[in-house]
Amino acid sequence: MAVKKQIVMSGIRPTGFLHLGNYFGALRNYVRMQEEYECFFMVADLHSLTTHPDTKELKLNVHRVLSENIACGLDPDKVALYCQSHIHETAELYLYLNMLAYKGELEKTTTFKDKARLQPDNVNAGLLTYPVLQTADIILHRASLVPVGKDQEQHLEMARNFVNRFNHRYGEVFPEPRAFNYGSELVKVPSLDGAGKMSKSENQLATLYLSDDDEQIRKKVKKAKTDTGPSKPHSPKPDYIENIFLLMKLVSSEEIINKFENAYTNCTIRYGDMKEQLAEDMIQFISPIREKANAIRNDENYLKEIMEKGAEKARKSARATMKLVRQAMGLNY
Ligand code: TYM
Repeated sequence: MAVKKQIVMSGIRPTGFLHLGNYFGALRNYVRMQEEYECFFMVADLHSLTTHPDTKELKLNVHRVLSENIACGLDPDKVALYCQSHIHETAELYLYLNMLAYKGELEKTTTFKDKARLQPDNVNAGLLTYPVLQTADIILHRASLVPVGKDQEQHLEMARNFVNRFNHRYGEVFPEPRAFNYGSELVKVPSLDGAGKMSKSENQLATLYLSDDDEQIRKKVKKAKTDTGPSKPHSPKPDYIENIFLLMKLVSSEEIINKFENAYTNCTIRYGDMKEQLAEDMIQFISPIREKANAIRNDENYLKEIMEKGAEKARKSARATMKLVRQAMGLNY
């Protein structure tokens, strides 16, 4: 008998250009997981409305995120690649889960507090219940593995709480979802200024985007914060230097990394050379993704076809889950 594959689900908001953090926190795992699991990956357009209510640019952004997903190696024949708003069952499950989520816990969520601070004039209920919608996305497919970066850890913890509450009150319908990364720990890709993480909408000069051209990459890497170098052998690395090594580990060969590690240890390191090398290795990594994404970004028919095919797969799984949910809740009269 065939063993049923574990189910994987994740999403990315179309709020700007994708960057190295999205790649190493999420997309890299998606691409590997598509070979081993049953995967649902989506563009989270509904979530983006909590902070970006203007929809004029949304279509363009959805198309761009989709093309970047494909350019990174996602195969729409292997996974369900779809748009969140195309799956109407999400809204129904979100509604039921909202009755199991408490105001106090939602108000304590770090992302809610951060966003409320950034947009004090628009602290809407959608922003407050953001983790509930995210839980609906995941458990709509009864997924148990959720490839995400470190910043999503708390949302996954909340998802487990909501799942346990549902299962306890209405009967076992959902597995507990958990944040997943192939390495041992969830990833956080730091920004080049060492003052935070790479981000779609903030910190843009210190973030490397998958759409950056070669010159932009060189310029941004060149500006990364460094100092005059260690004065004693085997010195600990300051955070901002650690960050540069971390970025190098993402894209450079072991030989190159070892060369600069050794130079750091014996105080002969020249950060100018290191950044030049890092920029070239980044370009090698980013340029093929950028070119591929550019080639498909404007092909509306192709993207529409993919989204529709993905939505069909996602709807099928969503309908099956919602049948179980209504039954468990006793709403099947
Ligand atoms: P979003 O759009 O902010 O980010 C998409 C993915 O990229 C990861 N990520 C990072 N990883 C490492 N370092 C960084 N600097 C970095 N920046 C972003 C994020 O962790 C994420 O995996 N709430 C989600 C979208 C979402 C979702 C879902 C995710 C909606 N529904 C269901 C999983 C399952 C978000 O805002 O991701």
